[in-house]
Amino acid sequence: MKEIEFTYKDALVSWNEMENTAGNLSLYTEHLSDVAKEASKKKINYEEAESSINLPFDLEAQKSVMEVVERTRTNFLKYIIVVGIGGSNLGTKAVIDGLRGTVDSFLEASKETPKIIFVDTTSPKLLEGIRKILEENVETPEEVIVNIISKSGTTTETIANFEIVYSFLKERFKGDGVVEKRVVVTTDYGSKLWRQASERGFELLTIPKNVGGRYSVFSMVGLFPLVLAGVNVEQLLEGARIMVGRCVKKEVSENPALASAVLVYLHNQKGISINNTFFFNPHLESVGRWYRQLMGESIGKKYGVDGSEVNAGITPIVSIGSTDLHSMAQLYLGGPRDKFTTFVYAHGNSKEIVVPTGLVFPELIEGIEGKELSGIMNAIFDGVKEAYKKNGLPSAEVILENTNEYTLGQFLQLKMLEMMYLARLLGVNAFDQPNVEDYKKETKKILLENR
Ligand code: PA5
Repeated sequence: MKEIEFTYKDALVSWNEMENTAGNLSLYTEHLSDVAKEASKKKINYEEAESSINLPFDLEAQKSVMEVVERTRTNFLKYIIVVGIGGSNLGTKAVIDGLRGTVDSFLEASKETPKIIFVDTTSPKLLEGIRKILEENVETPEEVIVNIISKSGTTTETIANFEIVYSFLKERFKGDGVVEKRVVVTTDYGSKLWRQASERGFELLTIPKNVGGRYSVFSMVGLFPLVLAGVNVEQLLEGARIMVGRCVKKEVSENPALASAVLVYLHNQKGISINNTFFFNPHLESVGRWYRQLMGESIGKKYGVDGSEVNAGITPIVSIGSTDLHSMAQLYLGGPRDKFTTFVYAHGNSKEIVVPTGLVFPELIEGIEGKELSGIMNAIFDGVKEAYKKNGLPSAEVILENTNEYTLGQFLQLKMLEMMYLARLLGVNAFDQPNVEDYKKETKKILLENR
């Protein structure tokens, strides 16, 4: 299986600039390499801010996940309801959508391929839909698992949504302890949620303290629902492990996370303030949404690590080819020159589909008869890159051999390491999110006032 390729021949920076900037990070690269060494220990301690890079190697955590899976998985499981928001669900959704694609939600849930239903924001429509599924599509409690995921254990939307889903289940299934057995709680060890959940005897999974939500996809946060849904997490983690090895190397030419961070940084220094990740596979859109959080929260900061006010940030946007070419390409190609684009394309998607010969409308588009759809997409992809080049717009390119667990694991890990390097270059803390806490505090205050 091929490793993913990262190239940047259409960037607007010189090799010298790349090497010099990467050189400024040499101590940090060494530090990451040291953190990665922890992975060989039997017990991983997660003492460093960057310790999430050890998650793919954490056999002990993976064993704990499998134990809870064994205790909760049934032969009848159809729905895994993941109640969580932001870092607590975006990674899992990225993987599941990346593997199953956009039509999956139209297919019926079955015990062969249980569905994950994501409950994130508070939406009466969403919750009403879940009640309907529970009433009409679920016959026994063994067909459903609710996994509430909250690192802090105190996120308003998550707790409110869980209470509602739990009450729906209680209405649907009577009997002592029946519903309780179908709940798994994933949270920080010792959080208020952890304490209350353990008092009630719910199954518990924990998140290492130094692993923030947006870096937690390879922790119990992502692994538990993904295993239940039938994802090959061993391949996902193998992809991540391979990428950790590549991305702690000193040489920028051999380290795609370092190269990507340096490119984004150098273009930002030249006044480019928008980072467009342009996926040419629609099933990767959720990967883009995951990346938006990763970039938005990791480098969007009021203060730098030295305490000075910096109001740092690069705005992440996500585009889908070829869909967005029909809505955004005019702006991208003709509008302000304020974007750096990373094209992402996964080849070899599932079965080849071919435009039939003997067309219904034979004279409308020449050259499509008998063509494979991937051939048409390749032409569009190359055409877009050429148009960017002719317009002098900077870009880089990530090519995945296929979309599977192995390549997705690589991609997610690549981006998490890229963000650590980028934050370092920008002089901000990649791991906190003080201003997300601002809104959370204000919401709680308003809710209390209106009691
Ligand atoms: O990255 C973050 O910290 C946030 O986006 C959180 O993931 C999100 O607010 C959910 O928090 P929690 O998992 O504590 O419920």
